[in-house]
Amino acid sequence: MKKIKQSALELMELENKYGAHNYHPLPVVLDRGEGVFVWDVEGKKYYDFLSAYSAVNQGHCHPKIIQTLVEQAQKLTLTSRAFYNSQLGKYEEFVTKFFGYDKVLPMNTGAEAVETAIKLCRKWSYEKKGLPENSAQIVVCENNFHGRTTTIISFSVDTEAHNNYGPFTPGFIVIPYNDAEALEKVLNSNKNIAGFLVEPIQGEAGAYVPEDGYLKQCYDLCRKNNVLFIADEVQTGIARTGKLLACDYEDVHPDILILGKALSGGVYPVSAILTNTEIMDVIHPGQHGSTFGGNPMAGAVAISALKVISDEKLAENAYNLGILFRTEMNKLCKTSKIATSVRGKGLLNALVINNEGHKNLAWDICIRLSENGLLAKPTHTNIIRFAPPLVITEYQLWECVAIIKKTIGEFE
Ligand SMILES: Cc1ncc(COP(=O)(O)O)c(C=O)c1O
Repeated sequence: MKKIKQSALELMELENKYGAHNYHPLPVVLDRGEGVFVWDVEGKKYYDFLSAYSAVNQGHCHPKIIQTLVEQAQKLTLTSRAFYNSQLGKYEEFVTKFFGYDKVLPMNTGAEAVETAIKLCRKWSYEKKGLPENSAQIVVCENNFHGRTTTIISFSVDTEAHNNYGPFTPGFIVIPYNDAEALEKVLNSNKNIAGFLVEPIQGEAGAYVPEDGYLKQCYDLCRKNNVLFIADEVQTGIARTGKLLACDYEDVHPDILILGKALSGGVYPVSAILTNTEIMDVIHPGQHGSTFGGNPMAGAVAISALKVISDEKLAENAYNLGILFRTEMNKLCKTSKIATSVRGKGLLNALVINNEGHKNLAWDICIRLSENGLLAKPTHTNIIRFAPPLVITEYQLWECVAIIKKTIGEFE
């Protein structure tokens, strides 16, 4: 059992006592971060292998992003969209050119961006595609994770996320993931489909990578049926999987692209949807918005965060080090009774743990990993996600591979 000093215990107790119990954190209290490292309140240093669920791709407190944040904070933080501001237009031009779209709609959190995509898709389907009023259906996948709003959890198959939050929003059809035939079947049998919303890799479900060609097949089916292909790249996007976007692996250019998390390098809530003019222009003044969406802080910070991605070649680094990581984990799985398989792309990876006879094994491994200086979190009881900041060096990754191997060895 980890020896915890009083100060950390007191801080955890404050969260327990005064906060809602909607999370189950590992018992570490973090106080500082820099690059791939975080330090707890007692000064212990860890490799961060969660990166705030892939929000901190650029590393903790990246100096260039923080400088932008501080400079903008001293100048102007929030105007609302009642007025123009001096950062928003520059950001909109930058982000649309960066990802190859005509227009952007800025929001704050990932879930809000998903909501925005759903609303835009529905509105487009009535005003451009010509579906009868209130008939639009959006196809989604089993084991999806798109956020926590009432509409989004309406089509979640995760009982924890879904149960007792009804009544639910109608208009969604759930099909199996990684099954283009299932999509074809639903598109052939239902003429009221407006969009297909998909994660290119299912992150929260445990880094499920679909078969090669799946995204392209689905994209082509959407094209053929005049249905919008909506990619939720909130977790997979912005270099995490070894390309700027996970859809780039299959040369798929989503009709609506959803981004969040690393759009700010994790220093500020910034999300967005990107699309072409024809689709975006169905939204008119007063029909959608957010007080904070498109604020000058967000715009300045996002430009800076995206520049870091390209200047530091973080997609290439994630691609190369991802191969190294999976190669080493595959070697581990060959000899281990506990680690059964590894999957992922770039630096979004998951190790599957055999927890037969020891239900909490993945949790216990994560506790031991933290004692050994590496922070990771289990998902769905037997999967450990490994997603370090993309600024990690090869030398550091080798150190982390050694920590993981040693830790798993302690449980064999
Ligand atoms: C694919 C995906 N979409 C949406 C979200 C929701 O983002 P947020 O927590 O910022 O609302 C997440 C969060 O993990 C995600 O992984």
